[in-house]
Amino acid sequence: MPASLYSLLLTIHDVLRWLVLLSALVAVVAALSGLLGGRSFRPLGRVTGVVFISFMDLQFLLGLILCFLSPWVAQFWSSPAAGMKVKEVRFFGMEHIVIMIAALALAHIGAARSKRASDDGKAYRTALVWFSISLLLILAGIPWWRPLFQI
Ligand code: HEM
Repeated sequence: MPASLYSLLLTIHDVLRWLVLLSALVAVVAALSGLLGGRSFRPLGRVTGVVFISFMDLQFLLGLILCFLSPWVAQFWSSPAAGMKVKEVRFFGMEHIVIMIAALALAHIGAARSKRASDDGKAYRTALVWFSISLLLILAGIPWWRPLFQI
């Protein structure tokens, strides 16, 4: 059972990557076009930001459960010093998790600060900066050498 639960969650986490990326891109483009077009932050900026952080939260939850099921993470924690020398063990045991949690934090800060901003321009600028950095981190933290879409 744990093995099939592991592969099921890994597949969902794998496919959800595309929704996270798409929603991040939409939130960044919406912030840019809202800023340049002088639009009201609500609903466009707020809704696209909330969709992005919702997919990130879901991905984080799946990733957290995967941390307890993944053989790579288990191998890393059984011997962190030895694990640091093996690319996949180091990546899934530490790098992927640290980078993605940082990306999650930046996305949340961006959404919270843009919501509280005093005017629409500031709200869009805040969202643009924090979401763009978050998106760059996500792109850097994805194991692109693994299958791009596995069902
Ligand atoms: C937010 C915190 C996250 C945590 C704690 C986390 C954790 C994990 C873990 C433990 C694995 C399993 C490695 C394995 O056993 O093979 C994994 C794989 C993976 N993660 Fe994450 N992850 C997170 C966020 C993300 C995000 C934001 C994305 C992309 C948008 C992502 C994309 C992937 C991909 C593509 C794989 C490989 C899936 C496969 O090869 O089937 N992860 N992640």
